[in-house]
Amino acid sequence: MSLRRGAGPAPIVVDRREEAEIALAREIIALVQERRRVVIGLATGSTPAGVYREIARLRAEERIDFGAVETFNLDEYLDLPRDHAHTFARWTRERFHAPLGISSERAHCPPSDDYESQIRDAGGIDLQILGIGRNGHIAFNEPGSTRESRTREVELHAWTREDAAAAFGGLESVPHRAMTMGVATILEARKLRVLAFGPRKVEIMKRVLEDPIGPEIPATFLREHRDLVLWLDREAAARI
Ligand code: GLP
Repeated sequence: MSLRRGAGPAPIVVDRREEAEIALAREIIALVQERRRVVIGLATGSTPAGVYREIARLRAEERIDFGAVETFNLDEYLDLPRDHAHTFARWTRERFHAPLGISSERAHCPPSDDYESQIRDAGGIDLQILGIGRNGHIAFNEPGSTRESRTREVELHAWTREDAAAAFGGLESVPHRAMTMGVATILEARKLRVLAFGPRKVEIMKRVLEDPIGPEIPATFLREHRDLVLWLDREAAARI
């Protein structure tokens, strides 16, 4: 692997994505076993799904109590009915909160007018799970999002809507707007754990790691974080 320009730790490249999923699931389980009251930031999308499956499996095997865990979802589509099949709130309830027995009062989701103060009141996010969009977005911080951005409403980028089209049964059904934690909100999490898998992420991961840090590729800001772990599989790391 060649050396990257700019700050940031070297990514961990795994042969199979399951290795990263298991490592992150075990880290989260260990945090919960140690402290019980842990605040976790949740990403959605195809990337973190295996991590949630693995946490649910380990938790059932080892009987770990997630009852005091609190979570904050990164983002949410706007203009969908609250219980629409494609809300991220529903996605995380089915894959994370329900299997782990986390009550809805502890499962915070945008949209919300006071999301930033809810995060502060919870003591801040201990560990934030993140995937990366094909255009370098984190959560729905699309290209152009600044280092100082906070939780807000955003317009979705054309690629983001295209990538969601299959799930929604057609581009015309994909919302145009969303609410997302900002880049500053995300960088305040004490630990950032980032995953990128598969050939679709190869071009963007090269830019995330090698381009100058800035709003053009919001994921480049992750390189400024002091406790970042980035896992890539061989396919996503092919050009690094
Ligand atoms: C989504 C989410 C992001 C996610 C990204 C990548 O729309 N808002 O949080 O990281 O796009 O999705 P996937 O993991 O399916 O590639």
